[in-house]
Amino acid sequence: MRILTGLQPSGKLHVGNYFGAMEPAIRLQDKGEAFYFIADYHAMTTTKSPDALRQNVRDLAVDFLACGLDPERAVFFRQSSVPEVNELAWILSTVCPISLLEKCHSYKDKVSRGVAANHGLFAYPVLMAADILMYDSNLVPVGKDQKQHLEVTRDLAVKMNEAFGAGTMVVPDVMIRDDTSVVLGLDGQKMSKSYGNTLPIFGDEKPMRKLIMGIVTDSTPVEAPKPVENSTVLALYKLFAGEADYAAMVDGFLAGGTGYGEFKKRLWEAYWGYFAKMRERRDEILADAGYVDAVLARGAERARAQSAVVLDRVKRAVGLI
Ligand code: TRP
Repeated sequence: MRILTGLQPSGKLHVGNYFGAMEPAIRLQDKGEAFYFIADYHAMTTTKSPDALRQNVRDLAVDFLACGLDPERAVFFRQSSVPEVNELAWILSTVCPISLLEKCHSYKDKVSRGVAANHGLFAYPVLMAADILMYDSNLVPVGKDQKQHLEVTRDLAVKMNEAFGAGTMVVPDVMIRDDTSVVLGLDGQKMSKSYGNTLPIFGDEKPMRKLIMGIVTDSTPVEAPKPVENSTVLALYKLFAGEADYAAMVDGFLAGGTGYGEFKKRLWEAYWGYFAKMRERRDEILADAGYVDAVLARGAERARAQSAVVLDRVKRAVGLI
């Protein structure tokens, strides 16, 4: 089984990205042949600064490896290292009805938020379909926001098979991560860069501590029991603490007699400990100048070997060779 997913390079990795996308991907790398890539072409639809794009790609690669992506097991590469994906995107675009793309929420949302309605943004789902179909992917784990794009992918695969013969494309299955993986931000809303409420996973000790100690809580007096529902501190603590420690904090909330400062201190310690090994690994990776480039080069080579097989098959099917 081939498992494929793409991650957009979009700045410093935060706890929401980690539990939402990265940690599930890392867990899945043992379940099949994983193909994971950095979606740098897609990032161009929103990142217009070349320096930012380069830096974000680099940061994502470092962070993903630090978090436990095993480049021996998973094929880890940059999307643009296999430029042939654009050739497949073109082929797919010739069977893709405009109406299918016009329906896509993600496009409509971005345009309504003021992002320029350029062709790249519009054709985004076609390139995404090419990413997936290029590697005969069987399973594509994504967040809920990508569900519709995966439906477009499946539609296009079926259309290709109808037009050019069964077996031209492998129709992938979709795995939608459930809502329990929505991580709350420091202000209690969904953690998201656009809300400015993120908790980075790799930050320096002092500022990170300050972020956590600065979480806004209600004004329940120290002696009184604290509400456990909708508590940002508890919700975050649950991610980092073991079951027993979490239960103990819930009890502490209910019992009263402990102030929020103390709970936040425990949250801080749990957070800092949780990412300790990854931080160490990250420092090692950063100290090894050529490591990341070597990993990505090797990944690109392995990805290209697979894409060549599929593209050859598709080009024969459509009559390009
Ligand atoms: N659009 C995806 C996102 O923003 C990233 C992505 C690009 C992707 N190509 C993909 C995900 C192919 C899965 C499969 O999250």
